[in-house]
Amino acid sequence: MKSSEVVDEIFRVYRKQGHRSYGENVTENQHALQSACFAVQAGESDSIVAASLLHDFGHLLHDLGEDIADQGIDARHERIGGNRLSAWFGSEVVEPVRNHAASKRYLCWLERGYFDSLSEASRKSLALQGGPMNDVEASEFEKTPQFEASVRVRRYDDEGKVPEMITPDFEDYRTLLEGLVRRAE
Ligand SMILES: [Fe+2]
Repeated sequence: MKSSEVVDEIFRVYRKQGHRSYGENVTENQHALQSACFAVQAGESDSIVAASLLHDFGHLLHDLGEDIADQGIDARHERIGGNRLSAWFGSEVVEPVRNHAASKRYLCWLERGYFDSLSEASRKSLALQGGPMNDVEASEFEKTPQFEASVRVRRYDDEGKVPEMITPDFEDYRTLLEGLVRRAE
């Protein structure tokens, strides 16, 4: 697949499924675009911006419906999304996507007050994802590839829940994403 076709395919999924509710008065599309926007505003690298945009791609690839955490279901969307994206992107994009639930569990361990800052839906899914990390889990996590990038992406994920925020659109990230697609074998 050419890089433009990869990005076409990704955007097609957002166009088709991104109208779904993310669960906090924003749609999946708004949440993705806002997370990316906050990463850009913070001056992050292309790969962190891309991971912020795509971190919940896995939400759009399952058919379990909206607000699944409300039903007590953990869809492991971070793995579904990361695995799919790994066909096209390197670890600098894929690992923060795979790790974004783990990063939340890590930040709950690291920072007093982080849990309290989470939205209600994030707290609900935290329980399904295993709750805050313990000391052993946290030190293991710090050794995983792209650990620091993963935690940064998590911060933009947490910020991207602003009803009515105006952001750039998906097409505005086309060049950035195409530049990150691995060369076709
Ligand atoms: Fe998210």
